[in-house]
Formats: sequence, C-alpha cells, structure tokens
Amino acid sequence: MDHFSHSDGSLHCEGVPVAAIAAAVGTPTYVYSAATLRDHARRLADAWASLSPRICFSVKSCPNIAVLRTLVEAGTGMDVVSGGEIARALRAGCPASQIVYAGVGKSDEEIRLALRERVGLLNIESEPELENVQRLAEGASRAAHCALRVNPDVDPRTHRHTTTGTRETKFGVDLAQALAIFRRHGRNPFALLDGIHLHIGSPVYSTEPYVESVRRALALMDTLAADGIRIRTLDLGGGFGADYETGQSPDARRYAEAVTPLLAPRVRDGLEVILEPGRTIAANAGVLVTRVQYVKRGGAKTFVICDAGMHTLLRPSHYDAFHFMWPVHPAPGFVPARRAREMSMDGLEAVDVVGPLCETGDYLALDRELPPMSRGDLLAVFTAGAYGMSMSSRYNSHALPAEVLVDGAEARVIRRRETLDDLLAHEDPHGARIGIPAETAAP
Ligand code: LLP
Repeated sequence: MDHFSHSDGSLHCEGVPVAAIAAAVGTPTYVYSAATLRDHARRLADAWASLSPRICFSVKSCPNIAVLRTLVEAGTGMDVVSGGEIARALRAGCPASQIVYAGVGKSDEEIRLALRERVGLLNIESEPELENVQRLAEGASRAAHCALRVNPDVDPRTHRHTTTGTRETKFGVDLAQALAIFRRHGRNPFALLDGIHLHIGSPVYSTEPYVESVRRALALMDTLAADGIRIRTLDLGGGFGADYETGQSPDARRYAEAVTPLLAPRVRDGLEVILEPGRTIAANAGVLVTRVQYVKRGGAKTFVICDAGMHTLLRPSHYDAFHFMWPVHPAPGFVPARRAREMSMDGLEAVDVVGPLCETGDYLALDRELPPMSRGDLLAVFTAGAYGMSMSSRYNSHALPAEVLVDGAEARVIRRRETLDDLLAHEDPHGARIGIPAETAAP
C-alpha cells in the first residue's frame, strides 16, 4: 500500500527514519515517499492500460512542485483548477498539452493564461463560462479544446462537502442543460466543445457510481452523435478512494474492471479517456509528523496537545475524517501490524489529539486509543499526503509546515519551514497608499 513502516520498531519512510527527518527539519512536517507516488501512478496506469487513458494528477491534492515533478517523470499529466496550479504544473515540467483545467470561477486572467500556454483541455462548468472562453479565445485568435462538465445525477455516497455529481451543485450542468449547450455551442470555432467531463465527488468507495455515470455520459454522447456532434474526449474525473484504514478502498484494478467494458468499444472508435486521480496517488504517499507539546491529564479526558492541528491538517475537523496515527517510535509491544480504527492491544489509552489553536474544533482525533504519550514524543498522522498540506493555513499566525520528499535512502526538503519573517512579509504596518483618481473619490 505504501512505503511507510515501523521497521526496526521505529517509523521509516522508505530507507529513512522519520525521527531523523524531524530532528533535522523540526515539526510539524509533511513527509512524502517518492516510491509510493510512483507505485500508485504505475498501478493506475496498469489497471486502466486497455483504455490507454491520459492520467492527470489532481494538483490540488498535493501541489508541491517536487511531488508534481516526480509524477511528471512517471508519465502523468496534471489536472489543475487555477492559474496558480497551471504555473505549478509548468514549473514541474508538465507539457501544457498534458494539462486539463477545471474550476467554476475561472477569471479572464486565468483563461488568458491557459490560452497563452496552450493548456490541453478546458473543463467548462457553466454556459456563461463557455461564452466567456469563446470570447477570449476569439480575441486571442487561439482555439481551445473544451469539455463540458456534466452532472450525471449519481449519488457517490460520500461526505456532503465533497459530493459534486448530483443534479444541482455549483459544478457543471445537468444532462438536459448539457444537451442544449452542446446544441447551441457545439460548432463554435474557438471553444471547440468536443469533450465531456465527469467528476462525481470524492472519496468514492464503490465502483457502481462510476459505472452509472459513465452509462449516462455514453447515452448523452449517442444523442449528440445523432445530431452530428462528435465527442472526442471523456474525462472521468477523480475521486477513487484511498486506504485511510488498511484495505478500506477498492484497488485501482477494481475501478478499472468495472468501467473498462463500457468504454473499450468507444476507445476503439477513437475516444480519448482522461482520469484525474489525486487522493489515490498522493494520500498514502504522505504522513504528517507532529510533536507532542503537552499531555493534559486529570479530568475525565486526556488531551494530547500537538504542534499540528486543524491549521496543518483540516480533514478531521472539516469532514470528520479518520486518519490513523501512531507514535513514530512506539514502546516495545506497541508496534502496529496494520492501520485500523480499533487497534486491539493491551495498554492503550483513549485520548483527544488536539492542536494549539484557539478553537474547540481544532483536533486531529477524538477518543482515539493510542499507546501512552508523553511530552516530546513524535506522532505520525498517516494518509495525509492528499489534501493535507494543500488545505493548511496560517490561522493563529502559525507558519506553514515544512515538506520533505524521501527517495530511497535520501531525504530532501522540498518546502522549507516558514520563518516569522516569511509570515509577515506581505504586510505593511503603514499600508501602501492606493492612488485613487480625484474624480472617483467621494466628495
Ligand atoms: N477532478 C476534479 C474535477 C475534482 O474536483 C477533484 C477533487 C479531483 C479530480 C480529485 O479528486 P480525488 O481523486 O483526489 O479524490 N478536500 C477534500 C477533497 C476535495 C476534492 C475536490 N475535488 C478532502 O480532503 O477529502
């Protein structure tokens, strides 16, 4: 599943002891395994090989450019959602043709950037956005391939904050609207609307919602074909589950086996398939390493107070997400064989693992059974490689964590820890005056 294990009794990432990384760069720190990133990308490519899909890693899940570079070298393209992510993908060496660009609120500036750089595909989320892309593409005399994001109205059975493919969300358009939009705009020479984009939500732990949404997309394609509108590209989005607990998610093969029979004949007829996995590649490729500051006992509850919290990893408090966590160097007898919600070992203590912020919702786990913890211990939070660092914030003026990439026996800092100077760098105690032209100023 990944290259993190408590070999020799203490947690290693590939060949490197995680405690040695914490000693060198401090905490909190995200530690990623390059071998895990490559393995997951390869497994996906192998599982879906019969469709030869373009696999575009979802940058939002783990946007560090060294992580992206590792994946570009492993052959993936990039799925981006902002001008900033376009810049990251390009900086990581991803050819623009291998970038797909989604997002409900693309600004003119971002669309111009995508056109200028010749981004491979724009995933369009609404009719007004499509009209804007047509206008800007015509102005730039540059045609762009576009796919329309369609909501197949399938329930992915995931958290309400990450459900996207039901009928009415801010993302994409429903099937009836899609048909009308293709009919109205399917022949525009600047925004070449010849793709369908699906993304039903994430994480999705069963294959049926994908099968059903692909069926609906194929039915739409057939209706369009009867109108003379040919779809070249079908982008299935991402959302494939990852193992937050050992064995929780179907593996890449199961998703692929469910969907490929439907798509194989279309691919033989020239359809290109795109996948946009984020979590399934990055989640298990990263752990968050935090140090216990204090252990507060004496009341009904024991609090393990860490230097990481909701500002470092938002998922537990935002989605009630479960992240397995365990001491980096557990006492003998507490070395875990697998990662499960309930660990059956003698001597565990139920604790709340909390962060330093002034918020009651600032926690990493509630009522979690852990080996006895003490001040100064290191705790590793697993499956944190996706939507960990990327959703972190500087709330309460804590600097952002460092990021380290391990490859074999080598560990490299790929984002240095922010200093207090970094934290204050964009602010000016006196403010910089904005020259408001006199005629627009209030009398
Ligand atoms: N494609 C599109 C259009 C997306 O919106 C997303 C994720 C993906 C692909 C990648 O999904 P993945 O394979 O990583 O599940 N912050 C939440 C997840 C939000 C997902 C947003 N869109 C979390 O921590 O679970």
